[in-house]
Amino acid sequence: MKYNDIDFNGKTILITGGAGFIGSNLAFYFQENFPQSSIVVFDKFRSEEKFSNGNLKSFGHYKNLIGFHGDVICGDLNSKEDIKALEAYDFDYIFHEAAISDTRVYDQEIIMQTNVNSFYDILEMARRMNAVLVYASSAATYGSLPSPQTVGKEHPENPYGFSKYAMDQIAYRYMNIYPDMTIVGLKYFNVYGAREFFKDKTASTVIQFGHQILSGKAPRLFEGSDKIVRDFVYIKDVIQANIKACAPKKNGVYNVGTSKPRSFQDIADILQKELGTDYGTEYFPNPFTGYQMHTQADISTSKEYLGYTPEWELEAGIKEYIDEIKTLYKTEVAHG
Ligand SMILES: NC(=O)c1ccc[n+]([C@@H]2O[C@H](COP(=O)([O-])OP(=O)(O)OC[C@H]3O[C@@H](n4cnc5c(N)ncnc54)[C@H](O)[C@@H]3O)[C@@H](O)[C@H]2O)c1
Repeated sequence: MKYNDIDFNGKTILITGGAGFIGSNLAFYFQENFPQSSIVVFDKFRSEEKFSNGNLKSFGHYKNLIGFHGDVICGDLNSKEDIKALEAYDFDYIFHEAAISDTRVYDQEIIMQTNVNSFYDILEMARRMNAVLVYASSAATYGSLPSPQTVGKEHPENPYGFSKYAMDQIAYRYMNIYPDMTIVGLKYFNVYGAREFFKDKTASTVIQFGHQILSGKAPRLFEGSDKIVRDFVYIKDVIQANIKACAPKKNGVYNVGTSKPRSFQDIADILQKELGTDYGTEYFPNPFTGYQMHTQADISTSKEYLGYTPEWELEAGIKEYIDEIKTLYKTEVAHG
C-alpha cells in the first residue's frame, strides 16, 4: 500500500524505537513496499530493569523484528556515543519513535532526559544530514482538556505528556529557525494493532481484553465503560500519517486519530463478536482520579496539511487484527 508518490527506494531511513510497536511496523512497511530502501533501526531493546511502577524501562523486543533484513543498532538515546554511531549513515528520512512510552512513569528526570534531551541530538542530526524528520508526539500533551483536542491548545498533566509537549516546543523553534527543514510532529491518540503485545500492560485494551476473553473469562472493564470513550486509531492509519508527513504542505504538529471516539465497552463487545463468545462483562471501580473520559482528535489540520484521512473503523481494525491476537495468545500467553 503506497500512500503518496514518494519513492523511498534508494533512500536511507532511520527508525528510532524500531524494535517497539509503531517503529517496527514502520520498518516492515518500508521493507515490504520499498525493498530497495536501506532501513536502520536504532533501539535500546529491553533489559530486566523496571521502573518503580513495575513496568519495564524499555519495551523493544527482538520478536518484533523477526523477518526484518535491515541494520539493527542497539543503542540508548541517552548515550551521545550511541547516537554518534548513527553518523556513519547519511539519512534521507528519520522517524523518531524511541521514547519512554509509558504514560505512568512519574520519575521526571529520567523521562525528560530520555525523551527531551535526545531530541536536540535528533534534530541536529536531521539538520546536518538534510533529512526529513517525523517524530512521535502524543495526545497526552492535552491532559484532560475537553474534546475535541486541538493542536495549539495543550495542557499536559503528567511528566510523559509534558516531555512530548516540550519536544513540540523545541520542534516549533527549529521550524522557525530552519524553514528549509521538513519537520513534522504527530500526536498519536490511542494506537492499537499488530506488534503492540510486547508493551505488556501498556499495550492497548484491544489486545488486553482480547486475551482475557481467550482465557475464557469476561473482559474486566471499569464501571461506566460505555461512557468512557477514546479516539482509538489503527496502526495502518498511523503508518499512513507517517508517510504523508514526509511531504507536508506545511511543517507542524498534527493529530493522528480517527475523530470518531468509541467506548471501551465497544471494544469488548466487538472482540466478543469476533471471537464468538458471550461472556458478558465484569465491572470494577475505576481506581484512577482525574481519568480522561473523552478524547476525540481534531484532525482538520492533519487533513488539510498532510492529506491524512483515517481509513480504519474500530470494527474493521479489530477484524484485521484478531488473528494476531489469537496467535499471540497461543504462543505467548497460554504457553508463554
Ligand atoms: N502507542 C500509542 O498509542 C502512542 C500514543 C501516543 C504517542 N506514542 C509515541 O509513539 C512512539 C512509539 O510508541 P510505541 O507505542 O511504539 O511504544 P514502544 O514502547 O513499543 O516503542 C518505543 C521504543 O523506544 C525504545 N526506547 C525506549 N527508551 C529508549 C532509549 N533510551 N534509547 C533508545 N530506545 C529507547 C523502546 O525499547 C521501544 O522499542 C513513542 O514515542 C510514544 O511515546 C505512542
